[in-house]
Amino acid sequence: MILVTGATGNMGVPLVRRLRRSGVAPRVTTRDAGRAGAVLPDEVEILEGDLNEPAFLERALDGVEALFLFLESGDPARVLRAAAGARVARVVLVTSLLAETRPMSFVGRLSLGTEAVMREAGLRGTVLRPWEFASNTLAWAREIRDGDAVRKPSAGLPSPVIDPADVADVAARVLVEDGHEGRTYALTGPAELTAEHKVEAIGAALGRELVFEETRDPVLLERIRVAPEQVAEGYGVCFMDSPGVRSAVRDVTGRPPRTFREWAFENAGSFK
Ligand SMILES: NC(=O)c1ccc[n+]([C@@H]2O[C@H](COP(=O)([O-])OP(=O)(O)OC[C@H]3O[C@@H](n4cnc5c(N)ncnc54)[C@H](OP(=O)(O)O)[C@@H]3O)[C@@H](O)[C@H]2O)c1
Repeated sequence: MILVTGATGNMGVPLVRRLRRSGVAPRVTTRDAGRAGAVLPDEVEILEGDLNEPAFLERALDGVEALFLFLESGDPARVLRAAAGARVARVVLVTSLLAETRPMSFVGRLSLGTEAVMREAGLRGTVLRPWEFASNTLAWAREIRDGDAVRKPSAGLPSPVIDPADVADVAARVLVEDGHEGRTYALTGPAELTAEHKVEAIGAALGRELVFEETRDPVLLERIRVAPEQVAEGYGVCFMDSPGVRSAVRDVTGRPPRTFREWAFENAGSFK
């Protein structure tokens, strides 16, 4: 049995769909079974509950051979220790590429700490460290519905934004294939894009001309300068230095990562 946590999320939905297409019927955990049932394919075992509840965690891990976990999956350290106790044979842990590029940031430290828990618990694991998700730009949806400009602060930095479906594709391979144990994969998209590029691509998907307009709030800009990773949430803009384009999506899946333009066309409905 494969257990997918966070199955209603940006990675979880495509991951469960891919597993079903390859004939695997996973178990998923969610805090809202109604929502999960609406977005997931048939023949998925949906368990509703909170992974922070020991009895629910024990039930979720019962008979599990492979586990997909990320940093918001309840308390991931606790889940990993319970997985070791339940003799889960394989773990795919999604952390963040900030573990490499900003190891002293909050997310960097959380990533490294959780990766260490996995190793120390004696689990055979693979770490996926994605960069910025394309889906973060859904934070612009209201502005794009209401007008032709996205007004945000931006450091003007290019970012190799990744389609979370590519993280899911890598995870789907690693959950079922041998040879990935002990590996850490840095996952990015195929090109470095600025906020302007992304707004243009969403406009192309919608058949509209959209522009990105820099907002120059000095207080916000100072916060970005001091702790860029702390300001990222909700802006849909990456304020951190690019890690460069990495090859792991192609190395693991055998095909290049999807472009932001492809993501925008697939998700155009969310901006209408
Ligand atoms: N966004 C990025 O740019 C980025 C970059 C690198 C790494 N990551 C990592 O990728 C992961 C997903 O990121 P996302 O922003 O795309 O999120 P998301 O897909 O919106 O994830 C939401 C999912 O998390 C689950 N979840 C949230 N809180 C939970 C809790 N307390 N207990 C159990 N499940 C919980 C939700 O499950 P239910 O509501 O169904 O219970 C939902 O399926 C995060 O761990 C993040 O650190 C994100």
